[in-house]
Amino acid sequence: MQKPAPFPEILARIHRSASTPTYVYFERTIRKQVERLRAALDHVPSRLLYAMKANSHPRVMKLFLEQGVGVDAVSPGELLLALRVGFSPESVLFSANNMTDAEMHFAQSQGALLNIGELSRLEAYGEAYPGSKVCARLNPEVGAGHHAHVITAGADSKFGIPVRKMPEIQATCRQYDLELVGLHQHIGSGIPDPATLWKAVSVMLDAARACPALTFVNLGGGLGVPYEPESAPLDLLDFSAQFGEAMQAYSGEHGAEIWFEPGRFFVAESGVLLVTVTTVKDNGDRCFAGVDSGMGHLVRPAMYGSYHEIVNLTNPSGVPRIYDVVGNICETGDRFARDRSIPEIREGDCLAILDTGAYGISMASEYNLRPLPAEVWVPEDNPARFRTITERRSPAQMVAELMRRSLD
Ligand SMILES: Cc1ncc(COP(=O)(O)O)c(C=O)c1O
Repeated sequence: MQKPAPFPEILARIHRSASTPTYVYFERTIRKQVERLRAALDHVPSRLLYAMKANSHPRVMKLFLEQGVGVDAVSPGELLLALRVGFSPESVLFSANNMTDAEMHFAQSQGALLNIGELSRLEAYGEAYPGSKVCARLNPEVGAGHHAHVITAGADSKFGIPVRKMPEIQATCRQYDLELVGLHQHIGSGIPDPATLWKAVSVMLDAARACPALTFVNLGGGLGVPYEPESAPLDLLDFSAQFGEAMQAYSGEHGAEIWFEPGRFFVAESGVLLVTVTTVKDNGDRCFAGVDSGMGHLVRPAMYGSYHEIVNLTNPSGVPRIYDVVGNICETGDRFARDRSIPEIREGDCLAILDTGAYGISMASEYNLRPLPAEVWVPEDNPARFRTITERRSPAQMVAELMRRSLD
């Protein structure tokens, strides 16, 4: 059983009107995901941030702004973009990793709250800005994620201050008169089993009880989405039933808000990467369907072995065959799918690679000097009025820009 493509007739129209490769984003899906999470948390004093690293297109960011969602920014570039899009500095949490002094001063000068995950950096911040408000990123010593590379807590992880070092955090805050207003965790991305998240949440709430001045506890992102046809969407009612009471109890006792900052959960399912088949090559052992895009545009399959459903938009009722769907980059690992049953693929067919709204374009590169895909926005009120929100550069434009930047 294949996952169906969202709005196939709209995707077909986009394909007819624009060349590929093109990312398409459906506004409706993003709004629905925000509403789902809000509904699951409606009995908890809570606030949502968007981890903009998942997809930082200004149009996507504006949608979160309109919905009253704040931002998790992890670099000066992300912070600047969030401010340019219109987010207030107070709605941005700045969580840079290996933060330099310059980054610290920059974020402070912009008015964002700093979320600091190393004791030495907390000390540097205290020395530079005594009396300020600050958030501390903890490592609750339990991590989870869809791949080892994206588990961001536990003994193997570089992120956060181990929770057992809470006394040192508090001592540093006292020494520099810092007001510890928030505690933060982000234990990993694409967490397959909410039970692990729950363990970390309990650790965090226990740590929070020892810090009376907190105004929030940020439980991070990491909520998974069903990429594979047989995987079920996260059961948010169950999530709310399991976590809600404890979060509500903590919040009631201490008057602090509970924050979440998902990226993937909000935007992954909104995105489709449209590609065109340029080459069908049957080598006897394997049949390769080669497309006009590759790992530079969507690195998740090559980097993590991630699954993305691939739908043949232009021959949906063809007889299924087993294919390797491969990209146009000069690496054998440039493969979107292996041994995948797909309705017969012919040269010229348009394939829709699903659930690519998160960590698609934001992780993309121009490797092999292949220009980035175009991006198209499908508005909720009138999907037929889709519009291009990023033009694809031609190779000539890309090279002209490279030459312009070169100082040699
Ligand atoms: C600090 C932080 N918060 C939130 C997220 C979002 O994670 P996800 O997209 O899995 O929700 C990330 C992802 O790496 C992160 O580093």
